Amino acid sequence: MTVKIAPISESLATFFDQNEYSHIAILVDEFTNKYCLPIIQDLLPSNFTKILIKSGEHHKNLATCEQVWDRMTKANMDRHSLLVNLGGGVIGDLGGFCASTYKRGIDFIQIPTTLLAQVDASVGGKLGIDFHGLKNHIGVFQLPKAVLIDPKFIDTLSIQQKKSGFAEIIKHCLIRDEKEWSAIRQQSFEELDLSKLIAHSVAIKEAVVLEDPKEAGLRKILNFGHTLGHAIETYLLDKGKRKILHGEAIAIGMIVEAFISHQRDLISLQELEEIESYLFENYGRVKLHTEEISKIIALTAQDKKNKGKEIRFSLLTGLGDCGYDIPVSASEMKKAIQYYLN
Ligand code: GLY
Repeated sequence: MTVKIAPISESLATFFDQNEYSHIAILVDEFTNKYCLPIIQDLLPSNFTKILIKSGEHHKNLATCEQVWDRMTKANMDRHSLLVNLGGGVIGDLGGFCASTYKRGIDFIQIPTTLLAQVDASVGGKLGIDFHGLKNHIGVFQLPKAVLIDPKFIDTLSIQQKKSGFAEIIKHCLIRDEKEWSAIRQQSFEELDLSKLIAHSVAIKEAVVLEDPKEAGLRKILNFGHTLGHAIETYLLDKGKRKILHGEAIAIGMIVEAFISHQRDLISLQELEEIESYLFENYGRVKLHTEEISKIIALTAQDKKNKGKEIRFSLLTGLGDCGYDIPVSASEMKKAIQYYLN
């Protein structure tokens, strides 16, 4: 997998100079069709197939995959074809999954257009779709042929979307780089150099994925904040209860899981307080009702890191350090969510 951080006009032109395909399709949603496709259209062959799907996590499902496979089939795409995924996490995860399974797999490249996808989803080959309300429940590991990241794409994002991606940048610092964590937490969001932080996050993620591509061990540290974060996101998004962006849910997950780390004497009270004050400052406090807590905890039973009945967490074992496969009980989770809410 090649990850290039460069203006897209340069990196995509180089990619096409070095690779030849019998047909090229590009997967977009209504936003990337309007704002991003015009930027790269001239670099594509004139006979490319455009596959337009609806944006949003609730379309990351089997029905949308069927549409994509149908369009690829009708365009007579053979095994020497390429799918270009132009968009955020939904486009990348779903498009990569469709490409990896179409005729047992064709090449695909990721051109992530959101901060979240640039610093996390596009790197590392985790592909898939949601199923029966469970996030990324069906999927595969398959590396893209290339990930082409152009930080310019994020200029058009709302502050809320940028902050959603920033949560994964914070996570990468907390689990792997104490020095960078100390640097970012002294700055307001507006003061941050996002281009530099994208490169920093991608380097951390690439190094972890290189060591453990299929999440047999070390890669689980990338899930810090995600066991309860995913459960909260799944719970709130189910039947449209409340709107929450992925990074906003992960910010809650990181506070709650940092609290469990502290309860286990893995990080100090001061370290916990530094983490929670920065996250509250950037993401505010989401309201959850007491009766919702047990429903959220029940959802952790579906977490992909679990073994048997054990709910296993990735917890901070210091600042810039993270352990994994740590069993956590329902009562510890409850106490941690109550801590967040108070
Ligand atoms: N987002 C976590 C991972 O790719 O492993």
